[in-house]
Amino acid sequence: MKDSIPSSLLSLLLFTVFLLLDFVAPAAAFNPADSYYIACGSSKNITVENQIFIPDTFNLRSSGGDSVVSSNHSLSSPIHQSLRVFTQTGFYRFRIKRPGRHWVRLHFYPLSKTGHDLNSAPLTVLTDEFVLLHNFSFANSNLSYMTREFSVNVTSDTLSLAFIPSNGSVSFINGIEVVSIPDELISDSAMAVPHGPYSGLSTVGLETVYRLNMGGSMLTAKNDTLGRRWDTDVKYLHVNSSVLQKSVDPEIVNYPVDLTKEIAPSWVYSTANVMNDANVTDSTFNMTWVFSVDPAFSYLLRLHFCDIFSKTMDTLVFDVYVNSDLAIPSLDLSAMKSQLSVPYYKDFVANSSFGSNYLSVSVGPDLMADTKNAILNGLEIMKISNGRRSLDGLSSVDNLLPSSANSVNKEEKKNMVVVIGLVAGILGVAVLILIGCFFFFQVIYRRRKLHRPWLPLPLYGNSHTDSKIATGTQKSVTPSLISLASAHHGRIFTFAEIMDSTNKFDEKLVLGVGGFGKVYKGTLDDGTLVAVKRGNPRSEQGLAEFHTEIEMLSKLRHRHLVSLIGYCDERSEMILVYEYMANGPLRSHLYGAGLPPLSWKQRLEICIGSAKGLHYLHTGATQSIIHRDVKTTNILLDENFVAKVADFGLSKTGPSLDQTHVSTIVKGSFGYLDPEYFRRQQLTEKSDVYSFGVVMMEVLCSRPALNPGLPREQANIAEWALEWQKKGMLEQKMDPALIGNTNPASLKKYGDMAEKCLAERGVDRPSMYDVLWNLEYALQLQETCALVDPDENSTNHISAIQLTPLESLENSMAVDESAGINSGTDEDAGETTTSAVFSQLVHPRGR
Ligand SMILES: *[C@@H]1O[C@H](CO)[C@@H](O)[C@H](O)[C@H]1NC(C)=O
Ligand SMILES: *[C@@H]1O[C@H](CO)[C@@H](O)[C@H](O)[C@H]1NC(C)=O
Ligand SMILES: *[C@@H]1O[C@H](CO)[C@@H](O)[C@H](O)[C@H]1NC(C)=O
Ligand SMILES: *[C@@H]1O[C@H](CO)[C@@H](O)[C@H](O)[C@H]1NC(C)=O
Ligand SMILES: *[C@@H]1O[C@H](CO)[C@@H](O)[C@H](O)[C@H]1NC(C)=O
Ligand SMILES: *[C@@H]1O[C@H](CO)[C@@H](O)[C@H](O)[C@H]1NC(C)=O
Ligand SMILES: *[C@@H]1O[C@H](CO)[C@@H](O)[C@H](O)[C@H]1NC(C)=O
Ligand SMILES: *[C@@H]1O[C@H](CO)[C@@H](O)[C@H](O)[C@H]1NC(C)=O
Ligand SMILES: *[C@@H]1O[C@H](CO)[C@@H](O)[C@H](O)[C@H]1NC(C)=O
Ligand SMILES: *[C@@H]1O[C@H](CO)[C@@H](O)[C@H](O)[C@H]1NC(C)=O
Ligand SMILES: *[C@@H]1O[C@H](CO)[C@@H](O)[C@H](O)[C@H]1NC(C)=O
Repeated sequence: MKDSIPSSLLSLLLFTVFLLLDFVAPAAAFNPADSYYIACGSSKNITVENQIFIPDTFNLRSSGGDSVVSSNHSLSSPIHQSLRVFTQTGFYRFRIKRPGRHWVRLHFYPLSKTGHDLNSAPLTVLTDEFVLLHNFSFANSNLSYMTREFSVNVTSDTLSLAFIPSNGSVSFINGIEVVSIPDELISDSAMAVPHGPYSGLSTVGLETVYRLNMGGSMLTAKNDTLGRRWDTDVKYLHVNSSVLQKSVDPEIVNYPVDLTKEIAPSWVYSTANVMNDANVTDSTFNMTWVFSVDPAFSYLLRLHFCDIFSKTMDTLVFDVYVNSDLAIPSLDLSAMKSQLSVPYYKDFVANSSFGSNYLSVSVGPDLMADTKNAILNGLEIMKISNGRRSLDGLSSVDNLLPSSANSVNKEEKKNMVVVIGLVAGILGVAVLILIGCFFFFQVIYRRRKLHRPWLPLPLYGNSHTDSKIATGTQKSVTPSLISLASAHHGRIFTFAEIMDSTNKFDEKLVLGVGGFGKVYKGTLDDGTLVAVKRGNPRSEQGLAEFHTEIEMLSKLRHRHLVSLIGYCDERSEMILVYEYMANGPLRSHLYGAGLPPLSWKQRLEICIGSAKGLHYLHTGATQSIIHRDVKTTNILLDENFVAKVADFGLSKTGPSLDQTHVSTIVKGSFGYLDPEYFRRQQLTEKSDVYSFGVVMMEVLCSRPALNPGLPREQANIAEWALEWQKKGMLEQKMDPALIGNTNPASLKKYGDMAEKCLAERGVDRPSMYDVLWNLEYALQLQETCALVDPDENSTNHISAIQLTPLESLENSMAVDESAGINSGTDEDAGETTTSAVFSQLVHPRGR
């Protein structure tokens, strides 16, 4: 492949750019983990208020969306000059590196002369979970363009946006922003007016309907680190003459330590409206703003205050009303922090006033106060999604996307026409692979033969973890697991239930026997098949592993990790109940059990699945988790041969390596153990990568990791296979069952990757993310070779591929510096010694 030629040069370039950006980045400003700015249908970058929107043709596969570009130069915003039109449901998919709340901003401008009547096109837009827009059309509004801002809490590793045209019409979109929001910005609870405490905000969808900077000018995205737009308040004032605008130097605003500066820019807090006619005697005198709202929804109101007006403390005391309900009685801002000019905000949940279509906010002087005045600096009003998870109408996502209710979530769908897997956290190596793909797709494109769309990996890409490790520092001490685990540990079974489900631990139901104890096939009351692992009660070490496993599994949920259903610790039993994996361990499908051999494609898919599971362990959770016991018996296959990683008894996030665990590993997993870990007793994710390299070799060669019956130089698969790989003759050692059915390019990619995983030094090994990309690539190589496969009749084809290396640098903060280091090093002086030590350690006691 051509990708090998420019790789070292390019990674050097990436590395340099990464360093440069790192250097330039301001330390204090919020740095969103995910940030996508997409100019839909455009062929070039578009800059809007200092923000670069990159074309969606980058890394795009499309069969439905047509791009339209306008030559009209008198548009209200540059983002309006292009759009993408969908005649059938179109999807954009974003890889989300860090779960949590994200802005989703959508820009619409119905360009004329596109061949479609965009002005009357009904717009329906969904995320995986929420209805954002339903049946909106410009023709029925007074708008000529619009930007809608939503915020949704993304809990999975991708966010999809679906644009659904009504039958007979089209849908379109000009620009999309998907950007992380700091967790502190929207908390779970607020005060409901008039009913008291309200919680549950963390799971709802929100749409910004009003965001005002009282007494000040309009603020655009470039005046706000979170890209928010703040309007002026004048047109919402009930009585214009009631207010007086105040402003001070923004420098005066004094953010308290417990308040993030992202809550609102100092420009918002440094301007305010105060009452025009103080010293009034009318007790109902107040400032009131009135907003028209859809009465079918509840609203989150955030009021921003900052006393930039008083000269002394405790003089300004006022009341706050939402509709005509008292929301805060006798608010004394200076008393909060014993200081003036300190920002303060308060969240409320309210409905429209008495079912009308308006909602009002008032501030007025407190009767008891010395100074008869009141102040308001900023106000945000956000619509809260309803019970059907909709922000527009009563239809739910399932109603609107009925034929494929899950399609937004599922990995591959025929009707998926547009997919963006932009760069989020593309690590250096992955970038190289993309470039490889570029050449590869060019070839395919020319042949017009690709039957199934290549999809980017839906992944987390927590590259911060990666680069920390890549620098070779010892893994930082992580807080104790137990404190992190949620209280939810799954179902607690009684011993009697377990006895029933396993027919009193019937020996006929034994699925396997491990160091921990026996595993039985069980059937729960409701017929669910489960695997019941019963620990050996006398093993103290078993108890620790038992708890580790419960703690680990109960906070991890992933398609490629075996799920814990529950446990039983009655009568000092240690019983874990897992989902049942019908096809058992991977190992028995490779050798020794007389099962039919797996095809190369199946093997690749299994490797990809387990790599996804491990990648999730390493980066998906709040803290990185190292499995420590990756081997073919710990990779289980379900009835569809989907691979899931199992057995977390040895997993580690804890602070130090205690001796018992080290010896446990040594005993349990000869042949898979990272030599560097042996030597330096330093555990990193790269130890799992090494073990995974061994698994890859085992999968290719269908022989045990360690076979002491063989001559010394063949006993250890890692050494033996690496030897053949380095000679470029690994394919001669592969499972004979594979001969004739593997694409040599796929095989080569695989061998190269396994070799890299088995590098002596952890820093030279790729991350699981890199491994995953390469395996996906190897699968693609295999697939395109075997294209004569008639069951794929998807009409998808590639219509636009534009990929330049520099464009991939969007988000290049995330470029893994290990990529730069990786390709630079090849020979390690310590290699032979380490290897020798390893062999010595392994062979005398190997089993
Ligand atoms: C160009 O855009 C402006 C602003 O949207 C619009 O008023 C005008 O009619 C457009 N001109 C053409 C030729 O489409
Ligand atoms: C969509 O809106 C149009 C008018 O704006 C209306 O005639 C039509 O019934 C609406 N369709 C749905 C499904 O609500
Ligand atoms: C459009 O504007 C007219 C008059 O300005 C107004 O009566 C009407 O309610 C507006 N329609 C919408 C949907 O805002
Ligand atoms: C849209 O589909 C519905 C039923 O699926 C049909 O009754 C209606 O006529 C269609 N409308 C158009 C404009 O094609
Ligand atoms: C997002 O949702 C998850 C799960 O419901 C929750 O744990 C998390 O706190 C939420 N994040 C935010 C920022 O609300
Ligand atoms: C907005 O930001 C620009 C600089 O980016 C600054 O010059 C301008 O004064 C700001 N405007 C306001 C109202 O804050
Ligand atoms: C208040 O001021 C705004 C903008 O200056 C103006 O459009 C509006 O008509 C005024 N309202 C009243 C009641 O004077
Ligand atoms: C309010 O009353 C105080 C003293 O009663 C006076 O000093 C101040 O000037 C008055 N303010 C206005 C705006 O009339
Ligand atoms: C605010 O003032 C208006 C008159 O300007 C009055 O009708 C209303 O009741 C007052 N609101 C409150 C909450 O006092
Ligand atoms: C808003 O209305 C809903 C139903 O109409 C009701 O359940 C809820 O309590 C109301 N919220 C407030 C704050 O009044
Ligand atoms: C587009 O923007 C990206 C990211 O900011 C940048 O790397 C790239 O060079 C730009 N492309 C063009 C053609 O300006």
